[in-house]
Amino acid sequence: MVAGHDDKGTVLNNRIFQVISKVAAEENRKAYVIGGFVRDTLLGKKCKDIDVVVLGNGPDFARRVAAELKIKKGITVYENFGTAMIRWRNYEIEFVGARKESYQPHSRKPLVEEGSLKDDQLRRDFTINAMAFSLNPEDFGLLIDPFNGIQDLHDRIIRTPTNPDITFSDDPLRMMRAIRFATQLNFDIHPDTLAGIKKNCQRIEIVSMERVTDELNKIIAANTPSIGFYLLSETGLLSIIFPELEALKGVENIEGHSHKDNFRHTLEVLDNVARRSDNIWLRWSALLHDIAKPITKRYTPQTGWTFHGHEFVGQKMVPSIFKRFRLPLHDKMRYVQKLVGLHLRPIVLAKEEVTDSAVRRLLFDAGNDIEDLMLLCEADITSKNQKLREIYLENFKLVRQKLKEIEEKDRIRNFQPPIDGNEIVRIFNIPPSKLVGILKNAIKDAILDGIIPNEYDAAYEFLIRKAEEMGLKPTVRT
Ligand code: CTP
Repeated sequence: MVAGHDDKGTVLNNRIFQVISKVAAEENRKAYVIGGFVRDTLLGKKCKDIDVVVLGNGPDFARRVAAELKIKKGITVYENFGTAMIRWRNYEIEFVGARKESYQPHSRKPLVEEGSLKDDQLRRDFTINAMAFSLNPEDFGLLIDPFNGIQDLHDRIIRTPTNPDITFSDDPLRMMRAIRFATQLNFDIHPDTLAGIKKNCQRIEIVSMERVTDELNKIIAANTPSIGFYLLSETGLLSIIFPELEALKGVENIEGHSHKDNFRHTLEVLDNVARRSDNIWLRWSALLHDIAKPITKRYTPQTGWTFHGHEFVGQKMVPSIFKRFRLPLHDKMRYVQKLVGLHLRPIVLAKEEVTDSAVRRLLFDAGNDIEDLMLLCEADITSKNQKLREIYLENFKLVRQKLKEIEEKDRIRNFQPPIDGNEIVRIFNIPPSKLVGILKNAIKDAILDGIIPNEYDAAYEFLIRKAEEMGLKPTVRT
């Protein structure tokens, strides 16, 4: 898995590194590429973000590199942080002066001062992210790896370079980063590092929600997101950042009757969706589809365990969860709400005889998201009974077939009733009122139930008849 020397050589042939090396020699300074770029190169992956650490002042060095590359506008300097960023071709190159941090006995605020390369490496998050390649002419390309990150890369281990308490108190977000890297790379977290997360988990509360959500989304976007969620739960982070999800955990047993563990089930559904779609919002829908099961759970000896209405209660819980995670509150949230609210509908269809009317209603309610809804429902089949799974999937095939037929015939997906509220106001010369809504819905229902075709004239005739029953007569014919 770890790439050979040749790959590294090719990557470092990039002009940017040659220029940095030249500037380092001319200025008699030391420069190193460090962090994610080194990790990804050794993993044989491409990386467009390049972190360069230099001894001494970072922005001064960056200005010299920018001048050499004839870059005028593509440089941003953050003097306060001692960093500067250059955009060159498709690359973003960040320059920072090597730093060391020391803690004063009476203050939680660290003292940041200039340091050596090793000081800088020591205060990075993980051994696999603390490796550097020299960019200096005398040993260009040399791997500088004081914490044996290369071994951890081979052994697939996430481990802090120093005492985890120090690494995590330096930046508690790193606890989530550890889990995110373990999920993305399918690595294990070293037992000491894992113990450090468990011990420090409460400190996640001081991190801004945006940063937490960023990591959470990266976990959700990984190939097997469940890895991250099991780790979040095991370390205690999940109950702090996402208590609703943690609440899905557990199996209750009354009189020998138990329900399934909805946490495991949800994560299985999430992984199933992740196998078939990269759509992060569809993945969020999978994560939230059963979120209201704990609060709707009931047991009666007659019916056993039920979760009546969990899809609607779940739909209502989505906004507060989206708000807390600072997720987009408009289209994306509505999409997730829709899928959570509808996730049982295709199952009901698959269980009963599929009537045209029920299919039309589902098409109308799901609109263009019908494909995603079907995918979610298929992913929701997690029964361990192979026979049962096959039967369900077969039923869904029938539902899909029926959806296709009805859509071709009736064009319901983007259906707008042929007569809208404004027109009803005009036809009967009535003010906008509840009555208009009733008539409008009656037309919609008649079309969805197949009483009339989805056409203007038929809708008009129906409207007139319906209105007459209510004592209304048209004043104009449109
Ligand atoms: N880093 C750190 N602590 C953090 C964030 C970053 O020590 N909380 C260091 C690590 O050495 C990391 C480097 O800064 O490799 C760059 O950080 P970043 O760009 O956030 O992450 P990458 O490792 O490049 O990975 P990704 O792009 O996947 O986030």
